[in-house]
Amino acid sequence: MTVPHPGGQLLLSAVDLRKSYGSTPALNGATLHIRPGEIVAVMGASGSGKSTLLHCLAGIIRPDGGEVRYRDRQLGAMSDSERSALRRSDFGFVFQFGQLVPELTCLENVALPLRLNGSRRRDAESRAMEWLTRLQVADVAGKRPGEVSGGQGQRVAVARALATEPRVVFADEPTGALDSLNGEQVMRLLTEAARHTGAAVVLVTHEARVAAYADREVLVRDGHVRETLLADR
Ligand SMILES: Nc1ncnc2c1ncn2[C@@H]1O[C@H](COP(=O)(O)OP(=O)(O)O)[C@@H](O)[C@H]1O
Ligand SMILES: [Mg+2]
Repeated sequence: MTVPHPGGQLLLSAVDLRKSYGSTPALNGATLHIRPGEIVAVMGASGSGKSTLLHCLAGIIRPDGGEVRYRDRQLGAMSDSERSALRRSDFGFVFQFGQLVPELTCLENVALPLRLNGSRRRDAESRAMEWLTRLQVADVAGKRPGEVSGGQGQRVAVARALATEPRVVFADEPTGALDSLNGEQVMRLLTEAARHTGAAVVLVTHEARVAAYADREVLVRDGHVRETLLADR
């Protein structure tokens, strides 16, 4: 099923994506349009192709067919270094397990993408501290990821993803390893922060209560994207 062009301004689009891993099909003509500042929940059973779709949208893996457009650029037409630069400047990432650098403190973890984008250490660290404060984890700034709880670690990961003020945040099961109370808190803080900066969020989840934080939800099934009846709450 192809999704009709939604009209209005588009930020990021996947059009008719196809991707197989060897003989295992993962995407089979997936189309999804994301508007600026929109929070979209990508739902679907395990193995349905959600992560593959997210990785294609983010330019991490290259689809076998179809195209990904970000603003007026085709990701497939860019060089690897152009795509890496785009990911650093315009995209932020939160995964199921924070993927924080274990040797760095939480503050240094949040400052790292700012440093990679050319900020000076002092500026990067003061901005990182503001973001840790916004995510209510300023108290763990000096600790290493191994010394904080799962919920704190995910809030640090959200701070790191948002600190560069990306246009798109990709979150793949960001609460998948948390209990429901911590999961709710991470989702509330993530969506508040995204609305504050105007970032769009592509939120992969299989939990309805997580999807409830989104503006719109779509369902991935057999490598296709279906708009659900709950569109536009
Ligand atoms: N790196 C990989 N190598 C081989 N098969 C993969 C790989 N990644 C995903 N798959 C397969 O592709 C399909 C879609 O996977 P995935 O996109 O991870 O789904 P989801 O995130 O919805 O669980 C599944 O059948 C999965 O086993
Ligand atoms: Mg997945």
